[in-house]
Amino acid sequence: MKTKSKRRDFIITRGIVAVILASIIIPAMGQNITMAQEQKSIQLSKPQIAGNPLMEVLAKRSSSREFSSEPLPENILSNMLWAASGINRPDSGKRTAPSASNRQEIDIYVATPNGLYLYDAKSHSLKMIVAEDLRGLTGKQDYVREAAVNLIYVADYFRMSSASDQIKELYAAADTGFISENVYLYCASAGLATVVRAFIDKPMLSKAMKLRADQKIILAQSVGYPKRGR
Ligand SMILES: Cc1cc2nc3c(=O)[nH]c(=O)nc-3n(C[C@H](O)[C@H](O)[C@H](O)COP(=O)(O)O)c2cc1C
Repeated sequence: MKTKSKRRDFIITRGIVAVILASIIIPAMGQNITMAQEQKSIQLSKPQIAGNPLMEVLAKRSSSREFSSEPLPENILSNMLWAASGINRPDSGKRTAPSASNRQEIDIYVATPNGLYLYDAKSHSLKMIVAEDLRGLTGKQDYVREAAVNLIYVADYFRMSSASDQIKELYAAADTGFISENVYLYCASAGLATVVRAFIDKPMLSKAMKLRADQKIILAQSVGYPKRGR
């Protein structure tokens, strides 16, 4: 009888000890995991935006789809195209945007009310391609016909002929992204509205632009003054 009750006491004591130990060890294990995670992550200081022109422009970068029909002055167009992919190192002919193996395969076409132009970075000039207002054909959204200009980024696959089709697609998309971001940043700095676009009827636009089969439309980008008075 005595032995039985001793055994019961022993089991109860063991149970209590196990519960106490578990209540200490389990939270401690959790704390260790949290501490390990905290040790791996770094809380960064607040970005210093004010007073740094590039940071201030980055803080303003955004897409906008409401355009006034006010035309862009020639000097604004000039600045924007130079920012997009103009020559910033005349000695080498290299550009404001990087391109894979410096192939410079992305051409910028500019659809304006007066016609479609091709930007030539070497002469920093616009060559007339089609004497028609093609703005409305540059995208499937209504606002594209309102924007002062629509840029169309076209990859010239001929300049990438040594690459595989997969590489051509990858590099053309990446290289277009750099140009588009340059335009975004210029627009943010100059108070212009802009949006990059993929929603395009490419076969129809290629035809209207008279592109060759190895010229591929990658993206378009609308640019103009923001709609006021809202
Ligand atoms: C590759 C790509 C394609 C896009 N295509 C379209 C488009 O066809 N139409 C459109 O209105 N916006 C388009 N956008 C704009 C995005 O909707 C926009 O960047 C996104 O909503 C984030 O807004 P934010 O640019 O103001 O940060 C596209 C953006 C990217 C990067």
